Amino acid sequence: MRATVLVVDDESLIRWTLAERLGAEGVAVVEAETAKAALAQFGPDIDLVLLDFKLPDSDGLTVLKTMKAKDPDVPVILLTAFSSIETAVEAMKQGAYHYANKPFNLDELTLVVQKALETTELRREVKALRASRSEPYAIACIVGDSAPMTALKSLLQKVASSPASTVLLRGESGTGKDLAAKTIHYNSSRAAKPFMNITCSALPDALLESELFGHERGAFTDARQLKIGLLESADGGTVFLDEIGEMVPALQAKLLRFLEEKAFKRVGGSADVRVDVRVIAATNRDLEDAVKQGRFREDLYYRLNVMQIVLPPLRERSSDVPPLVTYYIDVFNREFKKQVRGATPEAMELLKAYRWPGNVRELRNAVERAMLLTEGEWLTGDALPLSNDRASTARTMALPEEGVSLETLERELVKQALRRTGGNQTKAATLLGLNRDQIRYRIEKFGLDKPATT
Ligand SMILES: Nc1ncnc2c1ncn2[C@@H]1O[C@H](COP(=O)(O)OP(=O)(O)OP(=O)(O)O)[C@@H](O)[C@H]1O
Ligand SMILES: [Mg+2]
Repeated sequence: MRATVLVVDDESLIRWTLAERLGAEGVAVVEAETAKAALAQFGPDIDLVLLDFKLPDSDGLTVLKTMKAKDPDVPVILLTAFSSIETAVEAMKQGAYHYANKPFNLDELTLVVQKALETTELRREVKALRASRSEPYAIACIVGDSAPMTALKSLLQKVASSPASTVLLRGESGTGKDLAAKTIHYNSSRAAKPFMNITCSALPDALLESELFGHERGAFTDARQLKIGLLESADGGTVFLDEIGEMVPALQAKLLRFLEEKAFKRVGGSADVRVDVRVIAATNRDLEDAVKQGRFREDLYYRLNVMQIVLPPLRERSSDVPPLVTYYIDVFNREFKKQVRGATPEAMELLKAYRWPGNVRELRNAVERAMLLTEGEWLTGDALPLSNDRASTARTMALPEEGVSLETLERELVKQALRRTGGNQTKAATLLGLNRDQIRYRIEKFGLDKPATT
């Protein structure tokens, strides 16, 4: 991309000279004669400013200050005919990149400009990269306005702004524990430092220990070199320990010591290493149970439990289903270059009523699949693969103590299915895992065809 330089000088000969030379170097030049014109031209497309100190309507220092306030990253080179140490010092204090005396050496000045442009470009790239990495983790990007999600978001915000506390994230698979961990990191003052994660169940114990804490040279047969562990490489940042419930007790003890003293020893090492790292742990297991069974240290459990965040399962917040569906339709419209406008009301009802054992991840996958299959503008129930997990619903339906009449229950379920599908027998049949004939038979048997259901 071609860089643009703003040349501010009331002498047209100087502007012309600079424009000619910089133009020959492949730089685009914008000119301004006065301070007012300069500030009007100054914007995001200006990469560098050459600024005369003495302007008809103001002085260079004032203009410099205003520009720096608007965009501190743009280098400004001050040009002046009467040099004084004080103005030079003042200019540098105000954030000038360089200070050149008139008459300036054009070659030298051109070199300074080129060097400054290189650093601006680099700085802008880094900035854009940082922004693009952390942007998806803005609190506002967490979809869902149900009461539990609203409470969760405000808790995440609070935890993010207290960047020292250890956090334990709990929730079923697919409820957003990874997302919550990254949200906390990228909204905390640690955001510019590393976020590292490791899944405790993914590695054999010994490997997990050396990954996490590092090892000294010669610590074991293969340890030819010193290895810096995750905790050390994440210094200043956050380490996310996923599936903490799978960690073996010996490592749990080492982790506890780190949480309490901020110090640990590398494998095979005798000296303490100190780092400043926030630990976020996650589990979808019943840790209390693991404590009872002696698989999880009670002291570590209490230490982690100080700040516990529970991610609610999707079935307990079905009002979040429509915004999530809409969100993912949007995502996959972009990815698949489709123009799906939404889910039909019937499809949305199906989605809301579903139990979502795999939570948001399952919803995302269901929408993705439906989007691939669909040819039309609207997602319909037929495209949604929700029918196959009836078993989990059935298991959670408890038989009341006083018992129940199976026939009454069946009638009630058929009635509800018809109501939910607006009387559409085919769709009601799908909800109940029946074919058309089977549902017709039941509708007649229970006399459900009497009131106008169609
Ligand atoms: N509230 C939400 N808004 C938007 N996307 C979400 C939300 N919750 C979860 N997701 C998305 O759902 C998917 C699963 O979330 P994530 O990986 O964080 O779950 P998890 O709790 O870590 O699951 P597991 O226990 O299986 O590791 C991710 O793609 C995540 O971005
Ligand atoms: Mg996860």
